[in-house]
Amino acid sequence: MATRAAVLTGLDQPLVIRDDVEVEAPRAGEVRVRVAACGVCRSDLSMQDGTLPVPMPAVLGHEASAIVVEVGPDVTDLAPGDHVVVSWVPQCGACFFCRRGQPQLCQAADVVLLAGGLLDGTPRLRLDGAPLFQMSGTGTFAEETVVPACAAVKIPHDLPLDIAALLGCAVLTGVGAALNTATIRPGDAVAVVGCGGVGLNIIQGARIAGAEMIVAIDVSPAKLATAEAFGATHTVDATRVGPANAVRDLTGQRGADVAFEALGIATTIEQTIDMTRRGGQAVLVGIPRLDVMLTLPAMLGIVLQERAIKGCWYGSSDIRRDVPRLIDFYRDGRLLLDELVTRRIDLAGVNEALRAMKAGEVARSVIVY
Ligand SMILES: NC(=O)c1ccc[n+]([C@@H]2O[C@H](COP(=O)([O-])OP(=O)(O)OC[C@H]3O[C@@H](n4cnc5c(N)ncnc54)[C@H](O)[C@@H]3O)[C@@H](O)[C@H]2O)c1
Ligand SMILES: [Zn+2]
Ligand SMILES: [Zn+2]
Repeated sequence: MATRAAVLTGLDQPLVIRDDVEVEAPRAGEVRVRVAACGVCRSDLSMQDGTLPVPMPAVLGHEASAIVVEVGPDVTDLAPGDHVVVSWVPQCGACFFCRRGQPQLCQAADVVLLAGGLLDGTPRLRLDGAPLFQMSGTGTFAEETVVPACAAVKIPHDLPLDIAALLGCAVLTGVGAALNTATIRPGDAVAVVGCGGVGLNIIQGARIAGAEMIVAIDVSPAKLATAEAFGATHTVDATRVGPANAVRDLTGQRGADVAFEALGIATTIEQTIDMTRRGGQAVLVGIPRLDVMLTLPAMLGIVLQERAIKGCWYGSSDIRRDVPRLIDFYRDGRLLLDELVTRRIDLAGVNEALRAMKAGEVARSVIVY
């Protein structure tokens, strides 16, 4: 059957809306879904501009909620009509990493990320008779798609689907970075560099973890104002002052107990490590270009200071444990979701949403189908 999707045909090209994308039936271990809503994340932009590789033509989009319409053979835990959050890291439950409690590093996800297909490496979308690749095995800039069943987490019917979409990337990643990847102790001083969709969620995760001081750093005064609503206690405009010095000034020259980077460029990564106190943690969440290398003072910057530098993938999230936990936080008022949505748009507005993200105008634009 045919569906409507936004297709990336080449680097730096605008996405093209096509009504004639073919969706194949789900195979074993897969589900066909009608996408309900999809947030536009910087990682989508990163595939359009080549920061992250993706085979083309491709359907981007990976931060989605959806309704199951058909299940493949042997899928028993999902049924047509179920509401789900789509995960861009399928978590197979059986590999070395899943069994060790690190499902965000699931081995099955490697092929999905690199091949732009499902778990067998092939996509279920076709265009003009040829394979149409699916970002991270999802491809939710489409009205319908097929995803691995282990990448679909059931959610209650009364949770609004437009805000549920954000759980799929920005919220799992950001809140997870604070609650799972980092060790934040009550009373800690935390700094967050880059306050977009992911950074704002790191800020609210740090608030939930009990951080006493949360320093938000961005180049946009509007983002800094939003950061305060999400829990930042101090803001730093990086166009006016050096962020690392500003954080040291706020912490009696000590530096942050935990500092997060949520943009993905070398300069801000180095600033983030520099603003971390002796014995503290720098958590790198932003996704840099593949050729970005860091130069660090090994002795004075790392060994002597006993700094820990940690990568963060998908907020170290176990999707089946963490999606329900985040919904509980939302329901008891601790997690802001509605406030993350700056604009609600239709699929045809996706190019404008990517532009607005690049210009730093939005926390999140959400496509509502
Ligand atoms: N590690 C993961 O699992 C994971 C998951 C999702 C997204 N990401 C990555 O996280 C990053 C952030 O994603 P997002 O969707 O929040 O992006 P975004 O564009 O919404 O946010 C980036 C923010 O950085 C700010 N900024 C720009 N230059 C700055 C500077 N010099 N100093 C401080 N702030 C600056 C912008 O104003 C903006 O608010 C991206 O690299 C994305 O690919 C990583
Ligand atoms: Zn994302
Ligand atoms: Zn696994």
